[in-house]
Parts: sequence; C-alpha cells; structure tokens
Amino acid sequence: MTGTQSKPLSPAELALLFKDRYQHSPDGVWAAPGRVNLIGEHTDYNEGFVLPFAIDRIAQVAVRLRPDRKVRLISSLAERKQVSVDLDQLHPGTMNGWTAYPLGVAWVLQQRGISVPGFDLYLDSSVPSGAGLSSSAAIECAVALALNDLTGAGLSREELVLVGQRAENEVVGAPTGILDQSASLLATEGHAVFLDCRSRAAEAVPLDLARHHLRMLVIDTKVSHAHASGGYAARRASCELGAEVCGVPALRDLSPADLPEAAGLLDEETFRRVRHVVTENARVAETVSRLATTGPASIGDLLDASHASMRDDFEISCPELDLAVGTARGNGALGARMTGGGFGGSAIAVIDVAAEATVRQAVLSAFAEADYARPDIFAVSPGAGARRVV
Ligand code: GLA
Repeated sequence: MTGTQSKPLSPAELALLFKDRYQHSPDGVWAAPGRVNLIGEHTDYNEGFVLPFAIDRIAQVAVRLRPDRKVRLISSLAERKQVSVDLDQLHPGTMNGWTAYPLGVAWVLQQRGISVPGFDLYLDSSVPSGAGLSSSAAIECAVALALNDLTGAGLSREELVLVGQRAENEVVGAPTGILDQSASLLATEGHAVFLDCRSRAAEAVPLDLARHHLRMLVIDTKVSHAHASGGYAARRASCELGAEVCGVPALRDLSPADLPEAAGLLDEETFRRVRHVVTENARVAETVSRLATTGPASIGDLLDASHASMRDDFEISCPELDLAVGTARGNGALGARMTGGGFGGSAIAVIDVAAEATVRQAVLSAFAEADYARPDIFAVSPGAGARRVV
C-alpha cells in the first residue's frame, strides 16, 4: 500500500468517490480504527492479557451489494486502480496485496456459511501501513462490519473479531492473535480495552490522559514490518514450545513465581521468550490496577520494563525503535515502549503536555543524527471503535 494520508476523507467524500467510479451511490460507509497497544505485547496468542485502545486513524469502506457474484475493489491507497474478481473463484492462495483483506473477509464469511453476494467497494485509510498500528485489521473490521450489516448475517462484534483474525491467518498468512481486531471492534471512546484473550472477556478501562495533563505520542519509525514473514511466527513457535515443555496449555498459565523452575527446563533462548510473556502479562494486570488507583502518570516504569523485555528477552525491537524510546525517555517522557508486533513500526511515549515540543524535537534530531529516515510523530487519544458512518 502507498500514500496513506493522515486526515481521513469525510464519509461524504468517500461516497462521492464511490459514485464517481461505480456510477451509483454506496449502500453505506463503514469506519474501523487502527490501534495503539498500551501494553501486553505477544501475549494474545499465549491466551494472556492485552490493553489496546483505538486511535483516530481509520480505514473506511463505501460498499454496495451487487445482484451477481462479482466483486469490484478500488483503494485510494493503491492508485485507485480497479480490481475485479469472481466471488466463487476466491481461495486463500489467490488473494494478494491489499485486496487480501476485504476479499479474505468475504471468503471467511462464506466459509462460515453466510451467503455473501457480489459487491462494489471503495477503500480509504488514514492508518499508516507497516507502522504497527493495525492498518490491516482496520480494513478487515470495516469490511466485516459492512458485510455483516448488509447481508443481515447478525454476527456479534466478538464473532467479527474472529472473522478478521481468520482472514489474517488463513488468507494473508500472518499467524496473529485477536489483539488488533478486538481493539478495532470493541473499543469505546476515552477507554482502553482490557481483554482476557483466553475467555475473550473485554472490560473498558477509562484512559483520560488529558485530565492528567498527559499526552501519548506515537513515533512511527518508518521501519516497515510484515507479520506474514518469519520473525513473528518464530516467536509464536518458541512460546508454544515453552508451554509444551513446561507442561501448561498456554504461557498464560505460568506466573512470575514459576520462572525459576522454567529456567531449569528450557534452553536459554526459549526461556527468555517465555520470561517476556509471563512478565508482560503481570505488567498488564499492574497497569490496569494503577490506572484505576494512582492514574496514568504512574505507569511509566511499566512501559519502560515492557520495552526492555521486548528488546532483550523477546528480541523484537530494532535500533530505530530503541532510539525513539531512549530519546523520548531521556527528554522527559514518563515512559515509552515499542507497540505492536515489532521488527519495526512505532513506539509510544507518555509525556507531560508541557514536554511535547522538547520530546518531538529531540527525537527528530536523534534520528537525523543517526541518519535514519525522518519519523512521523503524532499524538493519539482513545477513540471510538468500528461503526457505520453513513
Ligand atoms: C500484531 C498481531 C497481534 C499481536 C501483536 C503483538 O499486532 O496482529 O495479534 O500478537 O502483534 O502483541
């Protein structure tokens, strides 16, 4: 995908673009947000805990059902070229590039026995792709919600989370968990989503940074990653091995007190992977508890510890992310960490509102000095989840 703009089109603008290309109006427009994961990384597929929130960067789709089996797709992120496919010809190996997300969702719905007719779709997104902010889940969730509404399939948001995840796993080929789709579909404004990835119970946790004179900055390092390539799957395999050797169904079942025993059972590298997941789950619980008691200004050391664990134990950071985190911390951030799957993407920093200009300038200078690409730095706050907008 190319050319993500930071400002989303208005739903009316998207509907007009749709009409211009397809010569009729869409049946509706649906929006789904990207996310920032506050804490709880690589814990979702270990049946553990995550604490993401939706951001105001959104994917939007204008959709109109067709009377036949044809699907036509246009994306403003892919030079507005039209792709046409036959719904009956879809199978996982044949869907490529950005079209794998909407077509993958249509395919999964059909696999679940839902009768999906042909449709015309126009996509626009302001979620930067490859930035660790769930640009792909945002597309999947917008399309899943649209097709669910238009076909009257009646799936719940929790079921749509699994539709999006299955599209990602089986069509895109990334063995990811339920974090991203849950954030996009279950988030509410002003809250993070505290999700137990085993029971799938979700709780809205108030996260009002402004009231505490705080701001959350995203530092997009512009180092692009893709979870359909090796590193993510290798980490997941290490976690599964760790759980098996320790004799538990999932790493969720180990607590920090079990780590000394695990150290005796596991090879050194697998042990570090396990230690990350086990300590990260504990940090999520502690973050939720502090947010409710001492407030968001008190979670900085947990974000720092999470980053150190991902850098040293899970080994999914990269020099650009470490520089972003270290520079933010060295210039007044209360806490900072990489967010998302890793191997590139974005860092987040919680800062006092008054420190914003200093932190921004320090990060830009440090990146220029290191000869890294200029990072994109922007503030986010917890926004609304996926919804129909027209
Ligand atoms: C990606 C995946 C999620 C999750 C994170 C790491 O965003 O899509 O399922 O595993 O990485 O926390």
